[in-house]
Amino acid sequence: MANTRIVSLKDFEDYAARTLPVSEWGYINTGGGAGVTQLRNEKCFREYLIRPRVMYPVGIPDLSTSLLGQQVSMPICVGPTASHGIAHESGEIGTAGAAYKSKTVYCMSNMSTTPIQDVSKANASGIRWFQLYQLGATQTELIKRIRVVEDHGYTAIALTVDVPVYGIRYADERNNFSLPSHLELAFHVGGKTTFKGEKGSGLSGFTTGGSIGWDFLDWLISITRLPIVVKGICTPEDAILAVKHGASAVWVSNHGGRHLDAVPGSLDLLCDVMRGLERVGSRVEVYMDGGVRYGTDVLKALALGARAVFIGQPVIWGLCYKGEEGVHMVLELLREELRLAMILAGCKNVHDIAKGLVVHKSEYLN
Ligand code: FNR
Repeated sequence: MANTRIVSLKDFEDYAARTLPVSEWGYINTGGGAGVTQLRNEKCFREYLIRPRVMYPVGIPDLSTSLLGQQVSMPICVGPTASHGIAHESGEIGTAGAAYKSKTVYCMSNMSTTPIQDVSKANASGIRWFQLYQLGATQTELIKRIRVVEDHGYTAIALTVDVPVYGIRYADERNNFSLPSHLELAFHVGGKTTFKGEKGSGLSGFTTGGSIGWDFLDWLISITRLPIVVKGICTPEDAILAVKHGASAVWVSNHGGRHLDAVPGSLDLLCDVMRGLERVGSRVEVYMDGGVRYGTDVLKALALGARAVFIGQPVIWGLCYKGEEGVHMVLELLREELRLAMILAGCKNVHDIAKGLVVHKSEYLN
């Protein structure tokens, strides 16, 4: 660790790549199939360009905003990623602590290696959301899980809808990816709290969403007082359906390119979804994730309609680097980069980030 000079999120990635065992690194960083979507996520951000305004004194920009009525210090949040015990012994408790220090949302994965109750106990005052997979559970089991979420201070549920079945992950197949034996999943998945790869990935064949349809969202909304965010929306058609069925927010995501390959990059998806929602006059909150690595990426996503971005892999890299402190460093580095980008582009606060600030590079070709 001593030789690692951290100046950008990429340095955390390099550190994690050097430090984690091949199999764990493969799981964290590999995209689905040929990895086209995963690559597109980052590439897409390079294809949109900022048109800065000058002679507009910004002073100290205000990065704060609200998500579902809750105040956060910046529009950069921690997305749900599974099994944090793989990256650091503090696991999800370290991650939640870092999000709390940065005064932002921590969305905890349903595939965590720490129980809901333990994260809540260690981090009672943090803004915590819970990411839900149906995981083949019965309605009674799901209601039980949701009551625990409600009773332990989680303030929203993000229902992930883009993984009816695990996608193809060549690295995990090659590495016989297994959950390390000292860890357990906090929830039963197919009756098990672990997965072991003997001839291939221990995760292939796992079904995280079964075959849920929009009636599942109707049902979920009917049994909880918590707002439901639908995570994994890639098209305007589905964004509009989510809103029609009562979603409190739409989360544009291709799951970091980890399941279905050959999906467009997440920033392109965001633009498409925003156009669809505008056509029907919807003002629902829209979040996005996938490939956010720089403060300018956040600025672009906000200009193109996102109310906030979530980060996945960078959080795990930070956790691997130094537990809670490492994740906090990741969040604060991104905050500082966004702050500088806002000053340089002429934005006093997040609501000042106008649509015309960002254009697709094709506009400069003519
Ligand atoms: C994920 N993601 C994810 N999403 C989800 O809804 N539930 C989960 O349990 C997981 N698990 C998970 C594990 C790992 C190792 C990664 C990298 C990702 C997807 C995640 O929430 C998010 O959509 C992407 O990670 C965003 O892309 P970036 O920021 O990783 O590029």
